[in-house]
Amino acid sequence: MDSERGSFGSQLGVILASAGSAVGLGNVWRFPTEVGRGGGAAFILIYLAFILLLAMPVMVCEFVIGRSSRSNAVGAFQKLAPSEPWVAAGIMGVLGGFLVLSFYSVVAGWTLHYTLASALGQLTTDYDYRLQTTDYGLQTTDFAQAFTGFVSDPWQPILYLTVFMLLTHFVVARGIRHGIERYSKLMMPLLLVIIVVLVAFSLTLPGAADGLHFLLQPDLSEVTPDVVLSALGQAFFSLSVGLGCLVTYASYFSERTRLVGSALNVCIIDTLVAVLSGFIIFPTVFSVGLAPDAGPGLVFITLPGVFSLAFGEMPALGYAFSLLFYMLLLLAALTSSISMHEICTAFLSEHFRWSRRRAAVTVTLVCIILGCCCSLSFGPWQDVTVLGRGFFDLFDFTVTKFLMPIGGLLMTLFVGWHLDRRLVEHELTNGGTLSVRLMRPLLVLIRWVAPLGILVIFLNEIIPLFIR
Ligand code: PFF
Repeated sequence: MDSERGSFGSQLGVILASAGSAVGLGNVWRFPTEVGRGGGAAFILIYLAFILLLAMPVMVCEFVIGRSSRSNAVGAFQKLAPSEPWVAAGIMGVLGGFLVLSFYSVVAGWTLHYTLASALGQLTTDYDYRLQTTDYGLQTTDFAQAFTGFVSDPWQPILYLTVFMLLTHFVVARGIRHGIERYSKLMMPLLLVIIVVLVAFSLTLPGAADGLHFLLQPDLSEVTPDVVLSALGQAFFSLSVGLGCLVTYASYFSERTRLVGSALNVCIIDTLVAVLSGFIIFPTVFSVGLAPDAGPGLVFITLPGVFSLAFGEMPALGYAFSLLFYMLLLLAALTSSISMHEICTAFLSEHFRWSRRRAAVTVTLVCIILGCCCSLSFGPWQDVTVLGRGFFDLFDFTVTKFLMPIGGLLMTLFVGWHLDRRLVEHELTNGGTLSVRLMRPLLVLIRWVAPLGILVIFLNEIIPLFIR
């Protein structure tokens, strides 16, 4: 059965593939943006608490569901709870997989464009022409114009997102061991090396200490209910939980894979990469006196300006820094998009008994088409809205505000209250061969803390939307 469905070949493969899913644009692009908006260290503290208390237990639940059923996100619930409504969690997950990959590939496409532009030296030449000093201080006007011009163009971003989707397709179509595991083992170590080099680079810049201060000194006055909500969204998005992505990956784990240990490792790697990305971005931004809270444009508008300025005297270093940075972003995006693709491919091929190739081609085509809709919402379709939002925002909102929290809630309830306790303990201890020292607190997190925490935060976020 294993050989028919595919399986991961080693524990290292399990950890690198799952960490590859977790480490993505969410860490390098979204996390620093949220930290910038949420007041630095205070946001990070709340984020860490949510990872530990809410997102990590959901990850363990996904692992239990996936490995005990050895099935895709929908099939897993059909096997473990036949003819019961729990399957809705799996269906929402697969739907979420399509939506998340569609808007993700747009930003990944931008990243591909910026990687090429860096390689061609377009981001680091003519720096004094692109940066202007105005009465308000430094402005990265030209980079802002270049970015808006690029994303609103009807064709170019679509071309890049298509190339990115084909790269993702190439890996997924090769299967679990020869595709996902093999490329994760190549890309993840490379990604970690690039991060370390970039952190070392950025910490040596003059003025870097201000950036570190911003990251490490919590200012609790900045904490608003909004900051708390976005910290939860960020924790779930960053760990890829709630959509059944990790149910799908865990269905390829072996009997010997340690579920709790693997989940802890993935959480540690993911958090480390997010914080280190902050260590790359903030010291660099502060070293040239730009504002840290520039929103999503931070890595596409502020940073190109920063690369030029910070390394103005040493253009070769600026060139290397910007190329490495966008390569990092691209690698991170790719290892995550592979996992989103796999949720959908595994479902189509198992549910409809299609070949893996046919399922993967279908997912790639559907996501390219939906991705085009998202991309056009920055340009010609700016005024096309559904429920008051353009496609990109609509997909992002549906996934991060609804599908992920509801999916996470259902998974904890399913494992904590519905599944046979003996089956859960069997999975967590690998049939009694492992002693999980923290079993009791973990079960308390799964049964009580995570579902209640997610519910309270979710309701807080949703209710105001409807009573406005
Ligand atoms: N965790 C990924 C990131 O941080 O970029 C995003 C992600 C991957 C979300 C896979 C959902 C998913 F199923």
